[in-house]
Formats: sequence, C-alpha cells, structure tokens
Amino acid sequence: MSIRLGDDAPDFTAETTEGEIKFYDWKADSWAVLFSHPADFTPVCTTELGRTAALKGEFDKRNTKAIAVSVDSVEDHNGWKPDIADVTGSEVNFPIIADKDHSVSELYDMIHPGEGDSSTVRTVFIIAPNNKVRLTLTYPKSVGRNFDEILRVIDALQATDANPVSTPVDWKPGDRIIVAPTISTEDAKAKFSNVEEKKPYLRYADQP
Ligand code: BEZ
Repeated sequence: MSIRLGDDAPDFTAETTEGEIKFYDWKADSWAVLFSHPADFTPVCTTELGRTAALKGEFDKRNTKAIAVSVDSVEDHNGWKPDIADVTGSEVNFPIIADKDHSVSELYDMIHPGEGDSSTVRTVFIIAPNNKVRLTLTYPKSVGRNFDEILRVIDALQATDANPVSTPVDWKPGDRIIVAPTISTEDAKAKFSNVEEKKPYLRYADQP
C-alpha cells in the first residue's frame, strides 16, 4: 500500500554504511529526509549524494537528518564513496542503507517495475519529528532531484507548523506568507505585521 501524507512513516531496521540502524531510534526527535537512488556507481546518483553531503550544514540548521537507500550492498556503497568525494568535493556524511533484500524499498514503495528494473526510483520522504510523513516526491531514474526544493519544503513545513499560515506559490524563506483562512483579518492584524487583504480569503502578511 502506498504511503500517504499524514501517515506514520514505517519504522524499520536496516544495514547501513554506519552499521545497523533502527530508523526511529536513529531519527529520534529530528526531521528526516529518506531518499532512494537507483544504483551505486551511476552518474546522476553520484551528483545527488554529493549534493546531499554538501548540504549537511543546511540540514543541521533545520534539525534534519538525511539517509539514502538503494538495493546495493554496504561494500558497494563504501566502494563508491571515494568517487562521490572525488567528483563533487563532498565526503558522504550520512548513512546509506544497503537494502539488498528490498525490505525498506518495498515498505516505502520505492521500486516501480514500469521504470525498467528492480532498482529503486528516486523517491523522497520528508518525515517530521513526530514520525508523520509530510512530503513525498517521486522522480524518474533519469532526472536528478532539486535539493534546494527539498530544503525549501522543510522551511515551509516548519513555518506553517509554527504559525497559522500557508506559503504561496514559489515561496522562499523571508517572503510574505498567507494567513490561514481560520483567522479573521482583524485577528490577523493583531498577530502579524503588514497584513494586506487582497481578497477576503487571501491575506498576505510578513513571515513571523
Ligand atoms: C544515474 O544515476 O545516472 C542513473 C541510474 C539509473 C538509471 C538511470 C540513470
């Protein structure tokens, strides 16, 4: 069954490049980005894992841990890491799950047989500190993901969790937010700065 937004992220125990990990224990009270890649020693994946490593500081600022998964072995993951560092300049600094038996990939529906073979497609799960799934993305094997977008969504989720707001199209941190429909314009003016009523149902304000 597919995993939907708001579901509890399934827990699992898996072999990784950092030893055996029980997902919930490893994640603890952090946000997590759990993402699959098709295979080790492949070009697009090399760029993606290097970019993830380069973003460690950005993930840390957001109390977020990254963890990758493919159906390759720990030995292959470890053999591939020097290439990632060589090509991208970033040493892998997060665990990579070795899902040889496909148990994690199947639990998270990461193998899409119509995409060619039994390797994982490029999925992303953003999981909140309470282990709820907050975003899912699925990309084809031939298309590398945009990790700026993954950071942007974490920022938006954290902003909308902190206050009764939503984020408009193409929002970036610091841009104006949309006041939740449940708040009257009068209450919004007391709570937020620079409230602007474009329509009774569309009120902008500065990001609190
Ligand atoms: C890649 O990472 O370049 C890749 C992997 C599997 C299929 C297609 C591309």
